[in-house]
Amino acid sequence: MCAASGLPYIRADQESAFEAVASLQELAEGAVLQRVRSTGDAICLVRQNGEISALSDICTHQHFSMSQGDLLENGTLQCAWHGARYDCRTGEVKQDPATSPLPVFMVRLEGDTILVGPRCERIDGKYVASTVRVK
Ligand code: FES
Repeated sequence: MCAASGLPYIRADQESAFEAVASLQELAEGAVLQRVRSTGDAICLVRQNGEISALSDICTHQHFSMSQGDLLENGTLQCAWHGARYDCRTGEVKQDPATSPLPVFMVRLEGDTILVGPRCERIDGKYVASTVRVK
């Protein structure tokens, strides 16, 4: 199971998979930011309503970069190419033409450093949300 930062059910073998990808100063409230993990996974960091989440940066429709899209007030991220929308916390598709959810990655904060971990599990066709609250 995926969890918010610091909760005890992140497995011990997943701890080493977390890596620093950005600082809080690089990700303003209401912004998105692309980062590439050492694994090669392109990540789209999202900061909205005081929470940070980490989604795949690759749109499941035709592979456009989600970090070039728009973060909407209703908590969705809209792809800049054909307008698919995804829930920023769960990656769930909220608007066509995408039909598959965006993968979600575990995220946590250590001081002012944002760390991203393994991909969250997908249960019943949905990724389990992973967010961390900015204090
Ligand atoms: S590539 Fe994102 S909606 Fe088509």
